[in-house]
Amino acid sequence: MGNPLAADLNTLRKIVESNANQGRYAQEFHLTPPVGWLNDPNGLAQLGDTFHAYFQYSPFNAEGGVKMWGHSTSEDMIRWEYEGTALYPDQPFDVGGVYSGSALVEDDGTMHVFYTGNVKYEDGGDYDYVTSGREANTVHVTSKDGQHFSHKRLVLGNADYPEDDTNHVRDPKVWRSGGKYYMVQGARKKNDTGEVLVFESDDLDSWRLVNRITSDEPFGYMWECPDYFEVTDDARRDTEPVAKVLSVSPQGLRGGDWDRRNVYQSGYFVLHGDVLGECKLKPFALWDAGFDFYAPQTFQTAGGRRILIGWMGMPDEKYYSNLTVEDGWQHCFTIPREITARNGRILQMPVRELERYRHNGRFSNAALSAEGTQCFDMEVVGIRSRGFRAKIANELELTWEKGRFAMRFAKQDEKSVGAGRIQRFEHLDFLDKVRVVGDASSIEVFVNDGVLAFSTRYYPKEYNVDVQAASAEIRLWDITF
Ligand code: FRU
Repeated sequence: MGNPLAADLNTLRKIVESNANQGRYAQEFHLTPPVGWLNDPNGLAQLGDTFHAYFQYSPFNAEGGVKMWGHSTSEDMIRWEYEGTALYPDQPFDVGGVYSGSALVEDDGTMHVFYTGNVKYEDGGDYDYVTSGREANTVHVTSKDGQHFSHKRLVLGNADYPEDDTNHVRDPKVWRSGGKYYMVQGARKKNDTGEVLVFESDDLDSWRLVNRITSDEPFGYMWECPDYFEVTDDARRDTEPVAKVLSVSPQGLRGGDWDRRNVYQSGYFVLHGDVLGECKLKPFALWDAGFDFYAPQTFQTAGGRRILIGWMGMPDEKYYSNLTVEDGWQHCFTIPREITARNGRILQMPVRELERYRHNGRFSNAALSAEGTQCFDMEVVGIRSRGFRAKIANELELTWEKGRFAMRFAKQDEKSVGAGRIQRFEHLDFLDKVRVVGDASSIEVFVNDGVLAFSTRYYPKEYNVDVQAASAEIRLWDITF
């Protein structure tokens, strides 16, 4: 396995993984690291019948460390199998971490992966680590099987990015269109505003900058993990896109409603015009208004569905924690979500494959209580004006009142179900449907067919659900395998 550094990292990784025991909050159907720390989804792709997901992985410390790419596969995006580690930080241009990136699969089945090789100088020099002391290198590797990768090729470095950008340029997301290849990267400009750089290539190795996209008004100091895709109408796949979507994870939003939200955000701008030329960004919309969601990435299945997976975690969060750290691991991915558009709105719902694992259905009108709901899928349909209230694991409350949909934890001490989380809400004038997907230590809520989503980790002492929704139909299933 690679050079001596990669070989030793591989040996050490296997040793720590062989002692792994995730404990009582181990997830059943959300991708987790076997040990240590996970952050962003990377390199999402379908090769043949198999889905591949890579993740920012620090196996040696549940609180983070040097990043490599962990690798998991799935046949249905619900049951994930850990495969080991695909890329190690073992070259001068990525020794500070194999940071986030993406994959593109060519018609001949070759997977092309692009990632950011992070380098941070720790040599006692006087660096601010914004305009000095770090490098962001764009690296290209290929694979036939998603597990074994070619020689690493450096294709872009800081000298290739615009002069007025800082050294923070990263997270290449690539796609193919009309015989050419395109890449977006997130950047922090020297005037502390975020932007997206768009590159074009004929051969995947030589890239030229063709566009720089930002909002009319400054919107945070850095945009991480950009993604660009076009959503077609479900019923009319081969017609014009109904929405062009530029997804980013901005850091540094302050004031107004941002102060009651997460430290960093992830959302999207609907883009009017041409991503390669003149274009304008419509107002920013959050992908997810819960406590734990960041750095999502999308990919397209062989059948053409657009799937989004987020990191169900939050970097630099001071006020709440994750109780799994005591068990030697931290964080997971969201359930893969299918993205569609309806009447100009972007919707996200759990991939339909989840429904295959619904068992033991219980159906009721107006109210439903159940115990033992460790893994469940619930739909509440036809809520309308009569109100909605749900309590999960005695402490997590979902309510719709006075034009607000809220997720709130009744207790806030460190050992409570929310481990310090308090409340998140969004304005919502009309509520028709709520879908809740629960795993051992996560809850994901989808409102009105996925117009809004709220994700959170949680740490129940008992698993139960209690729903009150006059006149609505409530359907609850266990998720079992
Ligand atoms: C987002 C991020 C990316 C970076 C990666 C490093 O969470 O900061 O911008 O590539 O994580 O792990």
